[in-house]
Amino acid sequence: MCGIVGAVAQRDVYPILIEGLRRLEYRGYDSAGYSVIANDGLQTRKAAGKVATLEAAAVADPADGRVGIAHTRWATHGAPSDVNSHPHNSGTLSVVHNGIIENHDALRSELQAAGYQFLSATDTEVVVHLLHRASQTAPTLLAAVEAVLPLLEGAYALAVIDANHPDQLVATRSGSPLVLGVGIGELFVASDQMALRQVTDRVVFLADGDLVAITGDSYQISNAGALFERPVVQLTEQDAAADKAGYRHYMLKEIFEQPAVLADTLAGRLGRERVIAAVFGHRAEELFEAAGQLHIIACGTSYHSGMVAKYWLEQLAGIPCQVEVASEYRYREVAVPANTLFVTISQSGETADTLAALRKARESGYLGFLAICNVANSSLVRESDIALMTKAGPEIGVASTKAFTTQLVALQLVALSIGRARGLSAAVEAEWVAALHQLPALVDSVLALDTAIEQVAEHFADKHHALFLGRGEQYPIAQEGALKLKEISYIHAEAYPAGELKHGPLALVDEQMPVVAVAPNNQLLEKLKSNLHEVRARGGQLYVFADRDAGFTSEPGITVIDMPHVPKSLEAILYTLPLQLLSYHVAVLKGTDVDQPRNLAKSVTVE
Ligand code: M6R
Repeated sequence: MCGIVGAVAQRDVYPILIEGLRRLEYRGYDSAGYSVIANDGLQTRKAAGKVATLEAAAVADPADGRVGIAHTRWATHGAPSDVNSHPHNSGTLSVVHNGIIENHDALRSELQAAGYQFLSATDTEVVVHLLHRASQTAPTLLAAVEAVLPLLEGAYALAVIDANHPDQLVATRSGSPLVLGVGIGELFVASDQMALRQVTDRVVFLADGDLVAITGDSYQISNAGALFERPVVQLTEQDAAADKAGYRHYMLKEIFEQPAVLADTLAGRLGRERVIAAVFGHRAEELFEAAGQLHIIACGTSYHSGMVAKYWLEQLAGIPCQVEVASEYRYREVAVPANTLFVTISQSGETADTLAALRKARESGYLGFLAICNVANSSLVRESDIALMTKAGPEIGVASTKAFTTQLVALQLVALSIGRARGLSAAVEAEWVAALHQLPALVDSVLALDTAIEQVAEHFADKHHALFLGRGEQYPIAQEGALKLKEISYIHAEAYPAGELKHGPLALVDEQMPVVAVAPNNQLLEKLKSNLHEVRARGGQLYVFADRDAGFTSEPGITVIDMPHVPKSLEAILYTLPLQLLSYHVAVLKGTDVDQPRNLAKSVTVE
């Protein structure tokens, strides 16, 4: 949430800042702004709306300088508006912030009593006034920041400039991500390395608590008063920012990338009949053998992948598995049985609730910590014992698609590996591995249904509600389908295990209620069919994604989309795809902002 960019260079930094903001817009897009130290002092431009609105304002009224900070916002405190946009200024100082200052009310009262006037409703404005107060006695900008940080409670990444120190920028992180970019004679900071790819491929991943002081072309990193040398990491092509590659939206591009990224996620990890034991590293073998149960923690789409994995882990490894959303886990008293392996799942590796859950778990006597993550060097990966990286590449669309299916295959590798440590037969492992080898081609064949699904989407565009049904591991897939639809088309959608219908939700069903069902040809098919009869009997309009041999035919009130026959172990992954396409096409028909749906941000780095 919220994206920060900063630059100190020997050239005008406005183009660097604005391009950085464009690349960070996935983090928040309700307002944007920047400050530079110009020849005549601090200059700030900001505007509610997307980065393009800020650009238009900056073209009409330019502000140039060699030191600058910029911000794209996802509102937490104070509505999206010009005045609440960052940067926030006090005297010669300007600040951008990602995170939440939890004690801002108390700080605001104290500052108001001292005569400071507040212009915005944000929590951030207290920071800049505190800095202003500190700068009256602090000899340097760094000293002023050091004096203020102990007063702040909450999570933050901050970047600060001061027209009284025109070649300096100070930035710090505590609970929110921040990287330092190292260019040739110029230095940058950003919430995400992707924001800097146009200017450098060398970055320092700052640790929590790090404070970086940039003066001209040199920098110094300190943490709790001590100086630190952090490694400069050379980024690879894989870390590079994505473009739409001719697709209308990132989401569509990312859906169609799935055959390739699933193959990438499996590459080097599968033998002909077995998961390669070494993929998790040496420590993993020991952890997998010792594990007596698993606690899986994640948010949103990543939580759904954990829900699916529970079926696989209990089936293949016979290991008890509890799956919980991170925001609940972090605030309850958890009973941790001996030998419990703690597993986090996250696309970004920076989700505040998931990180907080991991930090709490690290104090709670777990056996070890495994992260399934898409971003190497993310906080989640760095704070876990072992990590299995998904190889989805940068995911820009706020609605998660390829990250989800790559998480599912990674979790299959985990289930098979723990299964093997607990006596899973080689024949069963070989059968699952053989299926995984077929996966990219099968994904292609399901994506070929795109045009048929686009036509089905027309039936949803004028609806206000939808129900999604599945049984067994298709229940979390139905949940994921409902999340996708509500997230980008703003249609209220709920998912139920189909057997639960008669316990309440059936009351919602009438001719206006589209009911989507996922119906692979498995042991639960007949049970599901009975549930769907219950829907039809109440006039519900059924849309069934069904195995072509499952015995469904389209007729009035039932639209059947035939799926290819697929191995049972791949059903969850493959039945996800038509639901992604359905929500995409419904959103396009409704004309919503597919890649940046209202009120959301890609990376939820605040609580
Ligand atoms: O980066 P993470 O996987 O930790 O993010 C978790 C959720 O915020 C994320 O999956 C969210 O639910 C997606 N926008 C759903 O499409």
